[in-house]
Amino acid sequence: MQLSRKIAEDTYYVGSSDRRLELFENIYPIERGVSYNSYMVMDEKTVLLDTVDHSVSRQFMENVRYVLDGRNLDYLIVNHVEPDHLSSIDSIVREYPECKIVGNAKTLQFISQFYDFDVDSRAMSVKEGDVLNTGKHAFTFVFAPMVHWPEVMVTYDQVTKVLFSADAFGTFGALSGNLFADELDFEREWLDDARRYYLNIVGKYGVQVMNLLKKASSVDIAMICPLHGPIWRENLAWFIDKYKTWASYEAEDDGVVIVYSSIYGNTEQAMNYLALKLADLGVRNIHMYDASKTDSSYLLSECFRYSKAVFASSTYNLEIFPKMENLLLDLKAHLFQNRKVAVVECGTWALQSGKKMIDILNAMKGIEIVNDKQVSILSNARGSVLSSLDELADNLAK
Ligand SMILES: Cc1cc2nc3c(=O)[nH]c(=O)nc-3n(C[C@H](O)[C@H](O)[C@H](O)COP(=O)(O)O)c2cc1C
Ligand SMILES: [Fe+2]
Ligand SMILES: [Fe+2]
Repeated sequence: MQLSRKIAEDTYYVGSSDRRLELFENIYPIERGVSYNSYMVMDEKTVLLDTVDHSVSRQFMENVRYVLDGRNLDYLIVNHVEPDHLSSIDSIVREYPECKIVGNAKTLQFISQFYDFDVDSRAMSVKEGDVLNTGKHAFTFVFAPMVHWPEVMVTYDQVTKVLFSADAFGTFGALSGNLFADELDFEREWLDDARRYYLNIVGKYGVQVMNLLKKASSVDIAMICPLHGPIWRENLAWFIDKYKTWASYEAEDDGVVIVYSSIYGNTEQAMNYLALKLADLGVRNIHMYDASKTDSSYLLSECFRYSKAVFASSTYNLEIFPKMENLLLDLKAHLFQNRKVAVVECGTWALQSGKKMIDILNAMKGIEIVNDKQVSILSNARGSVLSSLDELADNLAK
């Protein structure tokens, strides 16, 4: 059964969704599934933009065949070589052996590293700004290195003003009939996953994303077709604005994220106390998470979202509790920066987690640790420790 859909003049969606996969990139939980988008433009020459993951390859090939309606495929434009978009290329090459593979020098090199088929004889190497004319349509290639991988480029159709944006503007979440963001309650149902997708997958490359946004701002874009998640044809500025906030490492909302690691519940209890104090002081948007329960990708996304964060950990064999250490290293790797944070440690005989958490945080740019006095819980928060937590709440609320 073919499941393609026309999305713009001569332009068709031929991708598909996977609701079975547990972990995207074998690391990120995707409760809402994921879509692998691929697009076709039917012109005097036929053009396919990217392929899909092998998990949805069969549906994809049916869609491609249906849209081609007996014609040959002339060009496959590869914007991104990552296997979630490329692993159906061998099926395409087998079925359409004369198809030209359009990509930059790195793209073509990477494809030949992954696959055994003859890339050279099919290769059409393009440079930044080159234009591919296919009859009525004209495709311009804009390089977006490290907007996930070094070879990434985006492709702009000058006729339809569609930007095929590769992983940029993508999100986790399977598509269920509605392909367009304006057909969905994106802000309520999709934004959290879009933020988690961006920050975990591309978040480290804010500078490169800003470069792409700068290049894109001079172009008249009517539609953004990403490789994952819904297509944008309305309210583009709103989503681009979100990207600007994320890419510049600014907080999206005022609020405090409290993440704790607690073995027996004492650190957790102290954080409940802190949260109430903060609320008493009028702080809104307090979000508390157990680092053992909530996957790191969500925690990272929440830490980036809000202006302030508290990290509290019991000591574990003279170290930070592993789940907390993992989160802090994850934040560091994603260039977490320019935030107010607080640190709370707990232990019964040799408290070490506080100092070690501070060491990791101090290696990040623009992180202000608001508690000048270390809050150290000896087994169970009481007496002077409660006063330090009060003080900490005051400093955070400021
Ligand atoms: C495997 C293990 C290792 C621990 N290592 C330390 C340690 O090195 N130093 C310390 O002070 N407490 C250590 N503790 C004890 C807890 O950190 C301590 O009891 C803490 O107050 C518990 O807080 P919680 O109730 O929030 O988990 C360890 C506990 C476990 C189970
Ligand atoms: Fe990617
Ligand atoms: Fe991707």
